[in-house]
Amino acid sequence: MTTPLDTLVLGAADVAEVVRTVGRNELLDLLIERLRTRCVEHSAGTTEVRARDGFRYDKPDLGLVEWMPTHEAGGPVVVKMVGYHPGNPVQRDLPSVIATSSMWDTDNGHLMALADATLLTALRTGAASALATEALAIDGPITLGIVGLGAQAVTQLHAISRVRPIDRVIALDTAADVAATFAERVTFCGVPVEVVDSSAADSIAAEVDVLCTCTSVDIDAGPVIGDVAPRPGLHVNAVGADFPGKLELPGALLADAFVVPDITDQCVLEGECQQIPRTSIGPELADIVRNQPEHRSRRNDVTVFDSTGWAVEDDVALRLLVELAETSGIGRRIPIEYLSTDPYDPYAPPR
Ligand SMILES: NC(=O)c1ccc[n+]([C@@H]2O[C@H](COP(=O)([O-])OP(=O)(O)OC[C@H]3O[C@@H](n4cnc5c(N)ncnc54)[C@H](O)[C@@H]3O)[C@@H](O)[C@H]2O)c1
Repeated sequence: MTTPLDTLVLGAADVAEVVRTVGRNELLDLLIERLRTRCVEHSAGTTEVRARDGFRYDKPDLGLVEWMPTHEAGGPVVVKMVGYHPGNPVQRDLPSVIATSSMWDTDNGHLMALADATLLTALRTGAASALATEALAIDGPITLGIVGLGAQAVTQLHAISRVRPIDRVIALDTAADVAATFAERVTFCGVPVEVVDSSAADSIAAEVDVLCTCTSVDIDAGPVIGDVAPRPGLHVNAVGADFPGKLELPGALLADAFVVPDITDQCVLEGECQQIPRTSIGPELADIVRNQPEHRSRRNDVTVFDSTGWAVEDDVALRLLVELAETSGIGRRIPIEYLSTDPYDPYAPPR
């Protein structure tokens, strides 16, 4: 027996069941569509996004745990907690990014849903790159380059394949064992993948139409690609720079490009926008998506989407997951909060 004040809990097995039930392509298409709509409707007046903050440490290992809160007026408050521990895959056989999302009822403060957001983070990061690519890249078919072949690379390729025909993928990673499994991990996308030596990063900007950089490059160790004249019309989704001092792109490429941040204030602190003056930064992703016809001519320019992670993406992803789970009866409802039968007596039996 469940009550409306139970919390919907969507763990790993539930998320996997949603993916199985809906289908990988259908789920990502839905997420891209919802994020597109949210970008079009987005207004700072109706959606509050609090600055991402958290704890950053180098003991017991280098990493961080951060919170990403947002509230759309009239909707729930959504808070994602995300950990980034780049040593995880090699040292612990765990993903670098592990996340959980929570949804709070603004009518009464009740925790409505608690869900894994590890897969959701990869999906929404892919969806954001898909929208940027749709707006700013040449029409295609495209040659896609991917630098850094970990978890995010899988959904970058999957998402780009949903908005552009891809005739060739050139993929590389500095870790040979990660590179060796990439083609198999993305077989389901149905596009030909050439995994090449990591030295090809030196010239990759000259050889592809769309480039996704999604590396776990160390602070102050970038850029991860060479400083060469980019292919005309190149569009870059720069995903890995999301921390002060963490950079993937050469400054010269940014200086000559039309740069679109997901959130300007965050990108200036943590993204590729650390490298350019504020006056050189273009409009945010939501604006580009909303005014796509106006920016169509940019498809022939060199463009960069500076993706640091926007809490609204997490809100959209969690709401979609909850909706799909509820439609299919997936997940468990648990009375987590002690809601006493007498609101004035915290010791009274829980309802
Ligand atoms: N923008 C966003 O919203 C967002 C969301 C999630 C993750 N991220 C960032 O994306 C990056 C990738 O995340 P992930 O989950 O795929 O990590 P991951 O650990 O699964 O994969 C990262 C890969 O990058 C490779 N790499 C490191 N340095 C490299 C270099 N110089 N050249 C080529 N390859 C290199 C590593 O060998 C590894 O295989 C991280 O920096 C993470 O912080 C950003």
